[in-house]
Amino acid sequence: MAKTPKESLTIFTDIVLPGESNPLGNLFGGELLARMDRACSIAARRHSHEIVVTASVNHVAFNNAVPVGSVMTIEAKVSRAFRSSMEIYVDVWVEDRESQVRSKVNEGIYTFVAVDKAGKPVIVPQLEPETTLEKERYEGALRRKQLSLILSGRMKPTDASELRKLFIG
Ligand SMILES: CC(C)(COP(=O)(O)OP(=O)(O)OC[C@H]1O[C@@H](n2cnc3c(N)ncnc32)[C@H](O)[C@@H]1OP(=O)(O)O)[C@@H](O)C(=O)NCCC(=O)NCCS
Repeated sequence: MAKTPKESLTIFTDIVLPGESNPLGNLFGGELLARMDRACSIAARRHSHEIVVTASVNHVAFNNAVPVGSVMTIEAKVSRAFRSSMEIYVDVWVEDRESQVRSKVNEGIYTFVAVDKAGKPVIVPQLEPETTLEKERYEGALRRKQLSLILSGRMKPTDASELRKLFIG
């Protein structure tokens, strides 16, 4: 049975400590990637109820630095399910101490694959997006999957039907 993105929603809120920072006093990029990967893996597991592995980090934008002492929230949700693979969108927010207003600082897009105990890919439930943003992310996911497959040498550019539509129509 198809599932909705909110069923996989995974939220981490934590504070950034000095031991996790770079020489400028901001969160070290690799530490953020690890936290994003963990949140995405839980979202993929909640969607599939299977063992999941990271197949690809499709995109990460470090748009804003996250200073030590920030309260940071990471939210991950499955944006599309294919056969055994799932695209997960992860949004990163920091909150202002006084106003508690949140602003988005970073985002990432990961691909996870559900596997059995021998590491062989298994089929996952389909996803039915509900909100406008979830529908937009769902629509673009096949294009991003094809790009990732081309970059990893798993697909010939000439076979990327969705990507070709962007340029050729
Ligand atoms: C990811 C992995 C399970 C794929 O296994 P495989 O035997 O190559 O299987 P397939 O070619 O059938 O690929 C399985 C799915 O992953 C997708 N996939 C594989 N590589 C991908 C990539 N770079 N980007 C997007 N999707 C990818 C395939 O398109 C396929 O999707 P679908 O079933 O939804 O159509 C396998 O390569 C693996 O175990 N990698 C190591 C994972 C790991 O250890 N991660 C932690 C990092 S240390």
